[in-house]
Amino acid sequence: MQIKDSVVLVTGANRGIGAEFVRQLKQRGAAKIYAAARNAGSIDADGVEVITLDVTNQAQVEAAAAQASDTSLLVNNAGVASGETLIRGDLDGIRRELETNFFGPLRLTRAFAPVLAANGGGAILNVLSAVSWFTHPSSTTYSATKAAAWSLTDGIRVELAGQGTQVLGLHMGPVDTDMIARLEIDKSDPATVVTAALDGIEAGASEVLADAIATQVKASLGLDPSERYAALVGAQA
Ligand SMILES: NC(=O)c1ccc[n+]([C@@H]2O[C@H](COP(=O)([O-])OP(=O)(O)OC[C@H]3O[C@@H](n4cnc5c(N)ncnc54)[C@H](OP(=O)(O)O)[C@@H]3O)[C@@H](O)[C@H]2O)c1
Repeated sequence: MQIKDSVVLVTGANRGIGAEFVRQLKQRGAAKIYAAARNAGSIDADGVEVITLDVTNQAQVEAAAAQASDTSLLVNNAGVASGETLIRGDLDGIRRELETNFFGPLRLTRAFAPVLAANGGGAILNVLSAVSWFTHPSSTTYSATKAAAWSLTDGIRVELAGQGTQVLGLHMGPVDTDMIARLEIDKSDPATVVTAALDGIEAGASEVLADAIATQVKASLGLDPSERYAALVGAQA
C-alpha cells in the first residue's frame, strides 16, 4: 500500500498524533483525507474533508463509513488515558476508556471492512502503545485497554486476510502530546512516530515499533512476569 493517491480516514485528527498523521499524509500525496473528530470545529487543517465522529457513537461511525466510502486506509488513532486504576478506579470511567480504546477501533473496523474490501483491500492502522505489553501502577486500566486493542489488531488481521486488508499495530513509548503533558519524562516527537507508521504501511508491515522503548518492551515479553516487573514490584514493596 502506498500513501500517494490513497484515501485515508483518521480518527482523533484534531490534535496530537492524529493531527500529525494528517500533516504527513498530505506531504506524501494522499488523494483525500477524511479528518474525523468529535468536534468538527476543532479541525485546523486545509484541504481535508471534515467528519464529525465520536468513536463511541455507533450511528456516527455508520454515517462516516457511508460518507467516506472511497476510503482505502483507516487510521484508528483516537484514544483516551483515564488515569484510573484496576482495583480502586471508577468502574464507569474504566468502561468509558475501554469503549474508546477497544470498542472504538472495533466499531470502525466493522463499519469500514466492506468499504476497504470494495476499494481493493487497503489497510488499517491501529495506534496502540508500548503499554499494550507492559503495565505501570499509575495506568493499569489504560494498559488493559491497549492490550485488548493489540489482540483486536491480531484478530482483525486474521479475519480480514481473505479480503487482502493489511492490518498494522503501532507501538511506542511516551509521545509529546496533550495526553501526557503533565509528565516530565523523555518523550518522542509525534512526527518521528508518524513517519515510522507511514513507512511501515508502505513496507507492508504488520507491526511498527516506533521507538527504543517499544522495542525494549517487546523484547522483554519472553521473560517471566516476575522478572519483567521486578523493578516496579520492588519499588512498591
Ligand atoms: N501520547 C502518548 O504518550 C501516547 C503513547 C502511545 C500511544 N498513544 C496513543 O496515541 C493516540 C493519540 O493520542 P495522543 O497522544 O495524540 O493524545 P491526545 O493529544 O490526547 O489526543 C487524543 C485524540 O483522541 C480523540 N478522542 C478521544 N476520545 C475520542 C472519542 N470518543 N471519539 C473520537 N475521538 C476521540 C481526542 O479528541 P478530543 O480533542 O475531542 O478530545 C484527540 O483528538 C491514542 O490512541 C493514544 O492512546 C499515545
